[in-house]
Amino acid sequence: MLHLNEPLKYNILTYGCQMNVRDSETIAGLVEAMGYCATDEIGEADLIVFNTCSVRHSAENRVFGKLGEIKKLKQKKPDMLIAFGGCMAQIPDHKKRLKRQGVDIVFGTHNIHELPAAIAQVREHSSRIYNVWEKEGPIIENVPSIRKPGLKAYVNIMFGCNNFCSYCIVPYTRGRERSRRPENILQEIKTLGDQGYKEITLLGQNVNSYYSSEKISYDFADLLSDAAGIESIRRIRFMTSHPKDISDKLIHTVANHEKLCKHIHMPLQAGSNKILGRMNRGYSREHYEALISKIRSAVPGVAITSDLIVGFPGETEEDFRQTLEMIEKIRFDAAFTFMYSIRTGTRAADFAEQVLLEEKKLRLSRLNEIQYGIAADINRSLIGTVQEVLVEGASKTDPAKLTGRTDNDRILIFPGPQDLIGNFVKIKVTRVTTFSLFGEIA
Ligand code: SAH
Ligand code: SF4
Ligand code: F3S
Repeated sequence: MLHLNEPLKYNILTYGCQMNVRDSETIAGLVEAMGYCATDEIGEADLIVFNTCSVRHSAENRVFGKLGEIKKLKQKKPDMLIAFGGCMAQIPDHKKRLKRQGVDIVFGTHNIHELPAAIAQVREHSSRIYNVWEKEGPIIENVPSIRKPGLKAYVNIMFGCNNFCSYCIVPYTRGRERSRRPENILQEIKTLGDQGYKEITLLGQNVNSYYSSEKISYDFADLLSDAAGIESIRRIRFMTSHPKDISDKLIHTVANHEKLCKHIHMPLQAGSNKILGRMNRGYSREHYEALISKIRSAVPGVAITSDLIVGFPGETEEDFRQTLEMIEKIRFDAAFTFMYSIRTGTRAADFAEQVLLEEKKLRLSRLNEIQYGIAADINRSLIGTVQEVLVEGASKTDPAKLTGRTDNDRILIFPGPQDLIGNFVKIKVTRVTTFSLFGEIA
């Protein structure tokens, strides 16, 4: 039953990467402009929006599991609307299943701005609207969005991807690469700084191929320099960097601006040239190693993190051993590690020699064991150092303590008064684990 004097409530379920986190802020802005209010109680929601991820089979499974749960809720509460967007919505094969599950609205990654019209229409005519743009349109600026008040904010600098790594679904769900105009990005960062945000993360699938179509030879390094010039912002991060596109100019820009965090997330994916070639990554292990040396000598103390895939089709024990060899040589500060997951429609899905699940599991655990050891070792080498953190709030694991992040993006937990939240504080590291540092105010 609709209660006319009570505002309608919405809840957004966000899966996947930072792009989706940012898109959910846009979805929140759009539905709040229609009069909906946020609720954390999913059972109270009149509108549930799924913002989904397709990057691996497991991500899609989680979404379908949740959708089953929500479908049951809708049986008890037929007025409730279910909207379904994000990367899974871009995949035509899912459509039938969404229909069966009683989804009212399907919208894609390219037409988030059309969600309010779809909601209004479905409410008025009790119909269903499945409206997904197959192809990207122009970038739409000034769509309302609502960020949670806080210290850190994401800013899109570009959308889509042209790289077509053979395993990856993202170019199909996010379309071709498009860069936002520098003035729009810089204005957004400035506004965020005026609102009290201290740290900005610039988002793109491949930030190093950012370009401005209006300004001649204006690239990602130029954008970073200009962003660093915005006074109210103290820290700038960016992700993801593709090893084939990192320029010397970018490396020197990071080295020369104090506000640019000394952290580069630059996925290696695999250690053997044969697999890198089959992945269509566009670089060799030798190129990657040379790049690492260049970055480390230009940017002392830089943290380098990676994504790694095990069990890509055709990966032999010897190929896998080369991945282990690379991680031992390079020593990543941290790495996200994944088992290869077949994505229908991508080139690798048709490759012969798929690796058995049991073998993938084994390789993943061998990889993790070594990588965790390296991460813990590097963390141990930080004991006794003083690190500046942006104090974010109470620690989740120990609410009596505070937590913050270092310039290198490490979690640092320490005792201290609540009024430090929002400040940059120097902390002496006294103890470490694989994933966190602990310390005291220096
Ligand atoms: N644009 C970014 C990341 C995109 S997806 C980049 O190029 O680095 C994030 C990570 O998911 C990828 O880096 C990759 O390691 C992993 N990934 C993508 N597709 C995958 C698949 N089919 N199976 C397993 N992992 C995958
Ligand atoms: Fe996917 Fe490769 Fe594009 Fe990253 S660069 S989003 S892994 S296709
Ligand atoms: Fe991100 Fe997942 Fe889409 S990783 S771009 S939400 S497929």
